[in-house]
Amino acid sequence: MTVLGPDSGVLVTGATSGLGRAVALQFAAHGIPVALVGRSEESLGQVTAEVQARKAHAVPLHADLSNTAALSDLVDAAASQLGGIGALVNAAGTDVPGPAEDLGLDEWNRVVAVNLTAPFALARSVIPRMRASGGGLIVNISSVAGRRGWANASAYCSTKFALSGLTQSLAAEGRGDGIRVCVLYPGAMATNWGTFDPEQRREPAGPEDADPADALDPATVADLIVWMATTPGQPVLNEVTVTPLREHGWP
Ligand SMILES: NC(=O)c1ccc[n+]([C@@H]2O[C@H](COP(=O)([O-])OP(=O)(O)OC[C@H]3O[C@@H](n4cnc5c(N)ncnc54)[C@H](OP(=O)(O)O)[C@@H]3O)[C@@H](O)[C@H]2O)c1
Repeated sequence: MTVLGPDSGVLVTGATSGLGRAVALQFAAHGIPVALVGRSEESLGQVTAEVQARKAHAVPLHADLSNTAALSDLVDAAASQLGGIGALVNAAGTDVPGPAEDLGLDEWNRVVAVNLTAPFALARSVIPRMRASGGGLIVNISSVAGRRGWANASAYCSTKFALSGLTQSLAAEGRGDGIRVCVLYPGAMATNWGTFDPEQRREPAGPEDADPADALDPATVADLIVWMATTPGQPVLNEVTVTPLREHGWP
C-alpha cells in the first residue's frame, strides 16, 4: 500500500528543476506534503513557494547528493517534518559528457554518487519506514540512455543502466511488504538538463537533446508518477519507457 495523505508525504530529489520540480508540484496539487531536495537555495525557495501556493506542506531540504554520507540524516529530517514518507522519487541526475579517456576518476565518482549511490542510500533509509507503515512507492528516474549506451556518456549510461538492477533488487525485496519500486526511462524532456539554460538546449547535441519542439513536457511524466502513487489498486509498474513520438536515436 502507498501511504500518502496529510500526514505522510513524498521525498523528491532534483526538486529544484525540471522533472523533480514537476513531480513536486503535481503531488502538491493533490494536497500531498512534499520534501524538496536540491542544491540551489534560490530555486529551492521558489519551488517551496510554488508548493505552498497549491496549499500543500513543503519541506525544503538543502543538500548536495554527492555527499552520500549525509543522506540518512536527510531522510530523518524529511520523515520528521512530513510525518512519514509514502513515496520517494529519485529524480536528481548529473552528467560529465565527453569521451571516456577524458573523464577523470573524480568526475566518474561524482556521477556515480549522485545518479546511483544517492538513490540507493535514500532507498535503504526509506524502506524500513515504508515497511513499518504498510508500504510505499519508490521511483528511480533513469533514461533511454539506461537502455542503450551512447558515445560520450560512459558515466551517465553506466549509472542509468545500474538503476535497473537496483530497482529490480529493491522491488523483489519490498514486494511482500507492499513496497513497489519502478524504474522510469524517459526520453527527451523539455527541462534545463545539461546546460541549466533552456535556450542552450536549442542546439541538439546528444540523445537526450532532441529538437525541443519534440521533447516531452516534464509535467506529463510527473502525471504518470503521481498516477502510480495515488491510483487505487496499487498497480505494479516495474519499468516504464516514456518518450516523445519523435525521439532522437530511439526506434
Ligand atoms: N531532460 C531529459 O531529456 C532527460 C531524459 C532522460 C532522463 N532524464 C533524467 O531526468 C532526471 C531529471 O533531470 P531534468 O531533465 O529534470 O534536468 P534538470 O532540470 O537539469 O534537473 C536536474 C536536477 O538534479 C539536481 N542535481 C544535480 N546534481 C545534484 C547534486 N549533486 N545534488 C543534489 N541535486 C542535484 C538539480 O538540482 P540543483 O540544481 O539544485 O543542484 C536539479 O534539480 C535526471 O535524472 C536525468 O538524468 C532527463
